[in-house]
Amino acid sequence: MAAERETEVPEAQIAVHWREEAYVYPPAKFIGQANASDPAILERFREERFPECFKEYADLLSWDKYWHTTLDTSNPPFWKWFVGGRLNASYNCVDRHAAVRPNQAALIWVPEPEEERTESITYQELYRRVNEFAALLKGFCGVETGDRVTFHLPMVPELPVAMLACARLGVIHSQVFGGFSGAACGGRIADSQSKVLVTMDGYYRNGQLVDHKVKADEAVARAREEGVEVEKVLVFRRHQGQYASASPMVEGRDFFVDEVMADFRDKLVEPVSMPSEAPLFIMYSSGTTGRPKGCQHSTGGYLSYVAGTSKFYQDIHPEDTYWCAADIGWITGHSYIVYGPLALGTTSVMYEGVPTYPDAGRPWRIAERLGVTTFHTAPTTIRMLRKVGPDEPRKYDYHFKHMTTVGEPIEPEVWRWYHDVVGKGEAVIVDTWWQTENGGFLGSTLPALQPMKPGSCGPGVLGVYPVILDEEGKEVEAGSGRAGNMCIRNPWPGIFQTIWGDPDRFVRTYYEKYCRDKDSKDWHDWPYFSNDGATQAADGYFRILGRVDDVINVSGHRLGTKELESAAVTVEEVAEAAAIPVADELRGRAVEMYVALKPGVTPSKEIEDKIALAIQTEIGAVARPKHVWIVPDMPKTRSGKIMRRVIAGISNFGDVGDITTLANPEVVDEIREKVQAEKRAIGEGPS
Ligand code: WTA
Repeated sequence: MAAERETEVPEAQIAVHWREEAYVYPPAKFIGQANASDPAILERFREERFPECFKEYADLLSWDKYWHTTLDTSNPPFWKWFVGGRLNASYNCVDRHAAVRPNQAALIWVPEPEEERTESITYQELYRRVNEFAALLKGFCGVETGDRVTFHLPMVPELPVAMLACARLGVIHSQVFGGFSGAACGGRIADSQSKVLVTMDGYYRNGQLVDHKVKADEAVARAREEGVEVEKVLVFRRHQGQYASASPMVEGRDFFVDEVMADFRDKLVEPVSMPSEAPLFIMYSSGTTGRPKGCQHSTGGYLSYVAGTSKFYQDIHPEDTYWCAADIGWITGHSYIVYGPLALGTTSVMYEGVPTYPDAGRPWRIAERLGVTTFHTAPTTIRMLRKVGPDEPRKYDYHFKHMTTVGEPIEPEVWRWYHDVVGKGEAVIVDTWWQTENGGFLGSTLPALQPMKPGSCGPGVLGVYPVILDEEGKEVEAGSGRAGNMCIRNPWPGIFQTIWGDPDRFVRTYYEKYCRDKDSKDWHDWPYFSNDGATQAADGYFRILGRVDDVINVSGHRLGTKELESAAVTVEEVAEAAAIPVADELRGRAVEMYVALKPGVTPSKEIEDKIALAIQTEIGAVARPKHVWIVPDMPKTRSGKIMRRVIAGISNFGDVGDITTLANPEVVDEIREKVQAEKRAIGEGPS
């Protein structure tokens, strides 16, 4: 067990150690209009009121049949919410608003090229488009309720349309982040056994029209290798009547949506009334072992939870212009670009491209032009905008009332720039901590009622009761200054239902560690283990330190070390590989790869490039390592386990810890000299 633990690199080890920060209070103007400004709401969600308190969230939705049981705990930890209820997510996000405010914009899409027109899609127009695409999926692809459909789409309005079309039919969608490679998409197609892939010919990124369809061919080939045959590939076109890809359309398999659509124009499809516990979508996330985890989210619980948190934490009002600058390919986009905001009938802005294209003023021009009231982004983007355009926000006449940060810990200095410069001191900030598995926020301040503290997400959100546990399961006291494992004591409606096709792994990863009694049907015995490290201040505010499992968070994207290492060893010269996180000014963390070559192979720049390319091909450009270090041998324990802690220490110019138990302690100095000398030479050494 001890040897086992030695191989882990808790990110907490290289986390910044912050000092305690002073509170920052929300502006009176914000409080005056907030959805939650009466402290009575905190009373209503007190633990004694759990789980019935969540009726308040469920009542934000329109149910075809009202539910009878709030929380069913009969088969732990497979919790069921709002049992007996029936509803349709597409109806809740589209039809009911189109009926009363048909001409309000549901989505505003901003293309990356600035000369291209911004597109406004009203609720009525969204209703038509969702119906037509649902009719096409059903009539042309023959998909049925319960089937899975994979999307590999960029940030275009076709993506929320396709999601809501699936939801209308009770079909489970699985969107793979557009920046991921064809191979990564193919693996996820195979895992979910999708017969249909929806993609696009190309999209704009940093001024380039990227060929995207080519990835569909790779995805289909990879899925086939893994035993799943994709029957149809639906291809949207970025520019009508043109084709942005060099890859040929495969006869009988690939179809342009605009051509097939001719038969489905203006067709309407009744929303299928789904049981509350029916799965709505799968979202893949990296985990401790190589295979990505398909997090399966429910219809009633999930939608209630994202509607409730959007209302009280994002403070969304229908008349707001809300811009979440995440990618819909991540959970943040699912919950807080599409399902939450649309369930509340607001106007949700989507942007196709890179925030700094063509310059660092772009986001602020968009905000000014569209009158954005609410802005949501990630620390990595904030750091980048601060670096390349620290004074840009001052040049534009926009006024946010509310801003969000999500995805990584934010440094207090960066937080202050966000608050003072981006928010012009007028906006409240919520730092929301949560995960793909969670559906919605778990840790955050309630913006009008709880003061902000730079670098801390705040206390548990309404109806969520977190606790920090040590390795033995004992509570780590608030204010003790000690770190431990961030856990949630209770279930909540947005919690994922299971890992698609692998319920054992679901139980093992999230519940086994702290379960008090496997036979118990009482939720108190089943705390949820988040796999994040954290500390709690005396005031109850949490500070998240990062992952304790083998996951590296690059720019808010979770990458499994095992996935990265498996990709590196696909290069035939490579014998062994280890991925470690290094602190990175812009991306928070970046990946460095250490590799040992097979006997007789001479190290070369060419091999380093091959490894970087293999990672890019298998996973995607986000995963491309910052450096590939070819080393004579990996530092190893006597039982042969690679000591990632040691190489992480070297790459980060930190402590390598005790190396006396290594089988080959002599390699440590050799590696350190090489790596640190090269890093210093290119200005990456400690300042
Ligand atoms: C990290 C993104 C600090 C954390 C919604 C978590 C954060 C992982 C925060 C989940 C935050 C997310 N402060 N760290 N506000 N939000 N994280 O699944 O390590 O892409 O476990 O979900 O990001 O990443 P995921």
